[in-house]
Amino acid sequence: MQSTPLFQSRIGLGTWQMGEDPSQAKAECTAIAHALEVGYRLIDTAEMYADGVAESLVGKALGSFASNRREEVTLVSKVLPHHADKKGTIQACEASLRRMQCDYLDHYLLHWQGSHSFESTIEGFLTLHERGLIRHFGVSNFDPKALDSWRTAEANVGSPYQCQSNQVYYALNERGIEFDLLPAMNTLNIALMAYSPLGTGNLAQHPGLSLLAAEQGLTAAQLALAWILRHPHAVAIPKSTHFTRIEENWQANQIQLSTSVLSQLDTLFLAPTRARPLVII
Ligand SMILES: NC(=O)c1ccc[n+]([C@@H]2O[C@H](COP(=O)([O-])OP(=O)(O)OC[C@H]3O[C@@H](n4cnc5c(N)ncnc54)[C@H](OP(=O)(O)O)[C@@H]3O)[C@@H](O)[C@H]2O)c1
Repeated sequence: MQSTPLFQSRIGLGTWQMGEDPSQAKAECTAIAHALEVGYRLIDTAEMYADGVAESLVGKALGSFASNRREEVTLVSKVLPHHADKKGTIQACEASLRRMQCDYLDHYLLHWQGSHSFESTIEGFLTLHERGLIRHFGVSNFDPKALDSWRTAEANVGSPYQCQSNQVYYALNERGIEFDLLPAMNTLNIALMAYSPLGTGNLAQHPGLSLLAAEQGLTAAQLALAWILRHPHAVAIPKSTHFTRIEENWQANQIQLSTSVLSQLDTLFLAPTRARPLVII
């Protein structure tokens, strides 16, 4: 499972809310294709997003690129919890692949914890892996307790593979995971996929952040994304359908933040001092 890097780029494109308005579909598809042209090699989607339409847009945008360069892109999708018994997980993945016109997913995640046993979801993931339909499996919106239960479930089914990533809300304005979840993920060797890294867009307009960013010749969005990438194994998946923002966000890849900027950010956005329930959007 580990022959290629876990993620082909550290900035990925989110696709939540794409596909919801048919009049925007063409522009959204062009935006995804533009991200690939700019250099994004990570795309995040889910069967939930616009009831599968977001996945279809991803498939369309990947189009000719994927026909000969599919292996260059890390494609992530997610199974809904109410589909996530063994049979439902397999069927959901097959449907996602049909919509994306792809042979395999790089990461297939349980979108959040539901009522099906983790064992049955893992059995579905293992069958998909055996059939070459997924390269890695992971979870989303899991707190430390859920990760522990997941690891126990992996042991219960004798899984030869382990959860590789946990996709959770992480942004300057939502740092709660730093207290307990992030250390637990580091111990368990589980990579962080930071969703809503721009605080669903709010951080791009934040006055204090904008001021500090301008002093560095950056935008607030770039500073917010570069701050996440200070974690060596983290990736961030901002969503945008605007070409200029897609390019702006991509440039965060290149930014190294000084200790002085990091400490000013710590003053603007306080680190957690105690465990808090995981925030889920
Ligand atoms: N696993 C989960 O449960 C879960 C939950 C939430 C999200 N996600 C994933 O994470 C992705 C990102 O999260 P998100 O969409 O909630 O929030 P986000 O990426 O933090 O913010 C997206 C918003 O910011 C705007 N934006 C993007 N770049 C900008 C820039 N440079 N300057 C100003 N505004 C900018 C976008 O508008 P425009 O599009 O108009 O540019 C959009 O309104 C989702 O698309 C989805 O793939 C996963």
